[in-house]
Parts: sequence; structure tokens; C-alpha cells
Amino acid sequence: MDRLRITGGRQLKGEIAISGSKNASLPLMVAALLSDQPLVLENVPRLADIDTMMQLLRKHGVEIGESPGSDGHRHGTTLELRTARIASTTAPYDIVRKMRASVLVLGALLAREGAARVSLPGGCAIGARPVDLHIAGLKAMGADIDVDGGYLVARASKGLKGARYTFPKVSVGATENLMMAAALAKGTTVLDNAAREPEIGDLANCLVAMGVPIHGIGTETLTIEGVDRLQAARHRVIPDRIETGTYAMAVAMTAGDVELVDGRLELIETAAAALRQAGVSLDATPRGLRVQRTNGALRGVDVMTEPYPGFPTDLQAQMMALMTRAEGASMITETVFESRFMHVPELARMGANVTIHHESALVRGVPKLRGAEVMATDLRASVSLAIAALAAEGTTTINRLYHLDRGYERLERKLAACGADIERVAG
Ligand code: EPZ
Repeated sequence: MDRLRITGGRQLKGEIAISGSKNASLPLMVAALLSDQPLVLENVPRLADIDTMMQLLRKHGVEIGESPGSDGHRHGTTLELRTARIASTTAPYDIVRKMRASVLVLGALLAREGAARVSLPGGCAIGARPVDLHIAGLKAMGADIDVDGGYLVARASKGLKGARYTFPKVSVGATENLMMAAALAKGTTVLDNAAREPEIGDLANCLVAMGVPIHGIGTETLTIEGVDRLQAARHRVIPDRIETGTYAMAVAMTAGDVELVDGRLELIETAAAALRQAGVSLDATPRGLRVQRTNGALRGVDVMTEPYPGFPTDLQAQMMALMTRAEGASMITETVFESRFMHVPELARMGANVTIHHESALVRGVPKLRGAEVMATDLRASVSLAIAALAAEGTTTINRLYHLDRGYERLERKLAACGADIERVAG
């Protein structure tokens, strides 16, 4: 298994190209199941999770063509997806257990074929993560859903019907699943308390391009008019806001100065506000945004994760890594997932001073971190260790690199190009 070796102490300087969003690409690829016409997606990042989704969609009968992105230094892929017919309505355990986002095929298969059999994803490293809201919403649209042998077995023999459904809790995945189901349902679906993450807006815009009228994009009430058939479309995936925030924090950690090309400041406003409070400057540029920390120490700030537009849970670990070196204390509260603090013991091995009390972590800044051998059990936790390593004395080795490869395209090359002492060690 590959490892990452980082020797800290170098300032990051230069530019980093931000890739297309992983969490927007995954549901956008699933939307291809809704139509027998081609869907072309540009700016898809090259990541393990995208490969896993391709593997799943091919099982369902999707033909996928891949070509390199056309534009210069950016390395995204253009995917052409076409589902002339659904070959199988089963999403098997061996794929769903690797990637929870596989559960997104449920609504689309049910809407197009009137049947779906999707493995239950089970718990994962960041919490129990049930799918009860996906099920309740689809039931409100007329589906019958049972659990049999670890699989969700769903049927809608007369097709799905438009319905009004209010989410009792904000869920990104359940909102996406119901939007796709609603696209081919009979009549109008109204989703209240829908997630407002930019990835939802991206899916909505793509469905609109495929001929599905959707109102309220970007708000907590989405109205989707079901259609009989979707048309061919071409869509460009939005830049990855979590990758943008991650590199902004890495730059801040090294007191660096980097332009994040294609990064969009308006997608990370809450995180940007926290970073500014900590003493980091972020400014929009014609090509993206510039992050600098050129004078003064980092200051401790408190953050609490919340659904968008709140501070993203997917940046919580990275913010904590940054706060380990701040002057003063920082209270970091995680309200979205119940056990997303696995990075804490690993950061402690590097000399961080963090105390967990229920859903909050109190981080007391330390004057220095020291390199160590570390590993993490999820994507964002792993990258938080890389951020800590960039400012640590000596060398850090991050094991279990496959977590990072699920969500960061060419991380070591992007950081090395800005002066980091970093290498991937095969093994
Ligand atoms: C998406 O996961 C993202 N994944 C996650 O990114 C992200 O952390 C999360 O949204 C929150 O922003 C993708 O987009 C592929 P949720 P999702 O449903 O859709 C509870 C990363 O690192 N819930 O919004 O699975 C759930 O347990 C990943 O890139 C229910 O109770 O998240 C959680 O506490 C990790 N019942 C909360 O809601 C349900 O039926 C929010 O989860 C569904 C969710």
C-alpha cells in the first residue's frame, strides 16, 4: 500500500489548479441512468471513487466513454454516459460497501425501471449513516421498500408519483436521490427542508439541461416537474469546494501565498470567514482565489459544522489541523456526523493538544508539531494529517493512502509544485 512522506517547514508558494467536485460528479453520473440519451460531463476529477461509480454504472448497463479534458493545465476528464437500456437493477454489496454514494442509484433505477435492489451500505468510519430518509421520501412517492438479505428491495410497478415530502433532517444524499426519482415521476414533487449544498444546485442545473423543470434551485424548497423522457445534455461539473478549502488551509498552515486556480470563493464563504478571523487573507482573482498568510501568527477561532451554508463537516478535520498551531484555543464542534474525530489521536501523535468532550473538541495551540508515522480511517482525516505534516518538524509518513486517493486528485504533485517536500512511496 502506498504511503506519503512529508517533511515539514516549507512555505507553499505558486498556484494550484482546483479539480472538478467529487461529490457533485457522483450524483451527476448517476443521472445518466434516467435517460436513454447521452449525458456528457466535463471536468470530472480522476479519483478512485469516480472509478468505483463507473464500475457500478456499467453493471447497470451504462456505456461510458472517457476522454481527457480539453483545457490546458487542468486534468479533468470528460465522460460520455449513455444508458440505452438498464441491464441490471441490482447494486451489489461488494461495490456499495466500498462507496456509500452507490445508494444514489436507488431513486433513478426505481423511477426508470419500477424496481431496484440496492445493498444497504451499513455504518462507516464517520458514523452510523442510516438511509431512512431516502426510503421515507421514496415511499411518499409510492414505492414499496423492504429489506431482504441486507438489500433494499424497492418496487413501484405503476411508476412513481409526484409528492410533497419534508425532510425531518437535512440530507445531501437523500435530496439527490429524491430529485432524480422525481425527474421521471408522474406529476410534481415538492421537497421541503432540502439540502442546499452547491452540489445539489449542480445536479439540479444538469437535470434542467436534460429537460426537467426545477424551481427553487439553491433554496430549501425544490419543486420538480416529472417528465416522460429526458433529453441529451452536456454539463460542466463545478469546482471542488472542499478541495479549495483544504488547500486554503494548507497554505495558511505554512504561512504561504498561493493562487487556487478555478477555486470559487463564494462556495466556501463560511470557511473563508473563519480563516480570515484566524488571520488568513483570501481574495478573489480573475482566475480563482488567492490565499496568503504573510504576517502574524494564526489565531484560534471556534467553528461548528452545519449543513450548507454553514461550516462544512468535510473541512472540519483540516481546520482542526490548522488550529493545532494557532495562538490560543479553538473549539471545534461537529454536528453533522456523530464520530468524525478519528484524526484527533493521530494529530496527538504529532504533538497536538486536543481534548474531546462529546461533540466538541478543544484545541489548544502548540508552538510546534513533530513528524510521526500516522494513518487515518477516512478521506478528510487523512488530508488533515498532511496539513499538519507540512508544518511539523521532521518527517511524517501517512499510511493507508487509498483514503486520500478517493478524493484528492494528484495531491502530492499539486503540493510539490508549490514547494512542499512530499513524495509518494510505493509499497
Ligand atoms: C454527503 O454525504 C457527502 N458525500 C459527504 O462527503 C458529506 O460529509 C455529507 O454529504 C455532509 O455534507 C457525497 O456527497 C458523496 P448526508 P451524505 O445524507 O449524503 C444523517 C466526503 O468526505 N442521515 O447529508 O451521505 C447522516 O447520518 C464525504 O467527501 C440520516 O440520519 O450525507 C448524517 O448524520 C463524507 N438518514 C447527516 O444525516 C438518512 O437517510 C447528513 O448526512 C441520511 C442521512
